[in-house]
Amino acid sequence: MASYSKKVLEHFFSPKNAGQIDDPSGVGEIGDPECGDFLRVYIKVEDEKVIDVKYQIRGCPASIACASAMTELVIGKDLEDVMMITDEDIVKELGGLPEFKIHCSALAASGLHKAIMDYFERKFREKNSLEAGSSEDREI
Ligand code: FES
Repeated sequence: MASYSKKVLEHFFSPKNAGQIDDPSGVGEIGDPECGDFLRVYIKVEDEKVIDVKYQIRGCPASIACASAMTELVIGKDLEDVMMITDEDIVKELGGLPEFKIHCSALAASGLHKAIMDYFERKFREKNSLEAGSSEDREI
């Protein structure tokens, strides 16, 4: 096994916040669920704050530790701050990764960013359908 930091091993052996959110505000997927590495991130947003994050993953020990650490960086933070979280932040949170495993952190950061994009897309669609609904009301 590659030489991982104590924190990587803790997150790998006891991953935090694994699972799914039944009524998510946004979902981000990266990779291929049929083959290879895959991550699905669920976020729950209230008042522009991320109140919960969960994930389902298939990947190497480093990617599992990164997904777990990512959730700890995100829960309870303002959406604006969460959008700024990078793969480097996740690696730093874990106390580093072996050089050949650095790329594994991109899975967690990308999945998170896609979930945020999905949140904004859902919000946009909801706003548009409400506006369309209210203009239909006016025509009646
Ligand atoms: S995510 Fe592919 S080797 Fe770690």
